[in-house]
Amino acid sequence: MTPLAEADWLNALIGFMQAAQLGLLRLLAWLGIAGTSHDQSTWPWPLRLSGENLLIDLGQARRLALTLLVLAAALLALLLALAWRRQRIVLVAMVPLLLAAAPWPEAHVVLVPAHPTSFHRSTTGFSAASIAQGRALYAQHCIGCHGADGRGQGPLAAAQPVWPPNLSSPLLWRRADGDLLWRVLHGTQDRHGASTMPAFDGQFGAREAWALIDFMKAQGAGQSLRATGFWAQPIGLPDVAVRCEGRAPRTFASWRG
Ligand code: HEC
Repeated sequence: MTPLAEADWLNALIGFMQAAQLGLLRLLAWLGIAGTSHDQSTWPWPLRLSGENLLIDLGQARRLALTLLVLAAALLALLLALAWRRQRIVLVAMVPLLLAAAPWPEAHVVLVPAHPTSFHRSTTGFSAASIAQGRALYAQHCIGCHGADGRGQGPLAAAQPVWPPNLSSPLLWRRADGDLLWRVLHGTQDRHGASTMPAFDGQFGAREAWALIDFMKAQGAGQSLRATGFWAQPIGLPDVAVRCEGRAPRTFASWRG
C-alpha cells in the first residue's frame, strides 16, 4: 500500500469517527438532553473515541477499521435474518461468530478520557488579532512555567510537581481543541487528582482561552520552522484582512479551502 493510500483510509476512518460522535452530540442537543457550556453542546460521557491516538498507532487503526467492517457485516446478517425466514437461524448464528472473530482494537487506545468541552470548536477563526491577544495573555499568565519559546523552561518550571511539557512539540496537535480548552480553563491533574497545572477559569473566559490556543499553535509552528526549516505540523494561515491594488479589503479566510 502506498503511503498516500494509507493516509486516505486513515483520514476516512478518523473523519467517520468524528462525524459519528458529532452527529450523536447534535442528536442529543436536538432532543434537548445535552447540556451547554460556552454556548456549545457538552459531551455527556467520560470517554470518547480518539482519532489522535490512531494517527500514532497504525496497527490499532487497522484493527478498528476491520472491526467496523465486521460489525457492518453482523448488522447486515441481522437485517437479512428479518427478511429471509428460511435462513434465519444460520444468519443469526453468524452474528456471535463474527463478533468473536473481529480483531477488536485495544480499548485504551481507541477510547480516551473526555471532557464536557471535548467537541467544542474554536470561535476565533484563527485570526491574527486572536493570536496577538493570545500572545499578550501568554506573557501575562503562562510564560513563568512554559517559557518564552514554549519549551517548558520558564523560571518556575523546576518548582512544579511535573515538568511543563514542550508546547512546541506535536503535543498540541495530538489533542482535541476542546480538550485543550478544558485544560487551560480547569488546569491539569495527575492520576491521583492532585493539581499539576493551575486552573485559569477564575481569571479569564473561553474567548481568551481560544486566543491562547491560537497563539500556542502559531508559536509551536514558528519554533518548528526555526528549528527544522519546515512546518512539521499542519497549520492554517492566520486570518487577516488584505487589500490588493485598491480593491475592497478581503480576508485570508475567504480563500481557505
Ligand atoms: C505554575 C506553572 C504553570 C503555569 C503558570 C501554566 N502551566 Fe501549563 N502546564 C504546567 C504543567 C506542570 C503542565 C504539565 C501537566 C501534566 O502533564 O500533568 C502543563 C501543561 C500544559 C498544557 C498541556 C496539557 C496537555 O494536554 O497535556 C497546556 C496546553 C498548557 N499547560 C497551557 C498553559 C497555558 C495556556 C497557560 C497560561 C494561561 C499555562 N499553561 C500556565 C504548568 C503551568
